[in-house]
Amino acid sequence: MQFNIEFVNTILSGFPQDLKMHSLNVCYLASKTAEYAGCSYQEVKTITIGALLHDIGKLCIDEKIINKPAKLSDEEFSIIKKHTVLGTKMISYFEECSNLLPIILYHHERWDGNGYEGLPGKNIPKLARIVAIADAFDAMTSPRPYQKPKTLHDALLELNMNKGLQFAPDLVQIFELCMLELIKMPSQKSEIDFWHKAFSNIV
Ligand SMILES: [Fe+2]
Repeated sequence: MQFNIEFVNTILSGFPQDLKMHSLNVCYLASKTAEYAGCSYQEVKTITIGALLHDIGKLCIDEKIINKPAKLSDEEFSIIKKHTVLGTKMISYFEECSNLLPIILYHHERWDGNGYEGLPGKNIPKLARIVAIADAFDAMTSPRPYQKPKTLHDALLELNMNKGLQFAPDLVQIFELCMLELIKMPSQKSEIDFWHKAFSNIV
């Protein structure tokens, strides 16, 4: 299997619109942050695809739970939490994608060890630590049926309040620098532009 634009578009076409936009946003933010963090070409390539697919396991979960416009019950939350393991199982069928698995499995780990799998600090793979920040930022700044989107300022404040608890402190700092540079750039015109910008890093 070749990771080219056609392949990626085929995957994206199977995503519900919300998940597609979230995946594109996380992909773009995580790949830019990885560049700022001094990651190698190979690591940037891995995070670009890994971030795009980080929530692919949600395709296996009932849409009524995924799209519930209210707080989830404990049981529903425990079902949602399975998406990291389900996504890992889906992608593990493709041998050449083994480098993506740590991102998919560990993107809900917390720096303090209280995440889905309980990995703490630097035991969490670096690319998964970056995706965790980009994921949380996009979730905070995107409209949801049950919450108003946070402003850039408030979302960055929230990330900073949680560094050392939920997020890797050094990577929050790098993410913030990266965001402040990105907002100086002309706005993205469309999701295609958005994706091509991220993909141009790796082709
Ligand atoms: Fe997730």
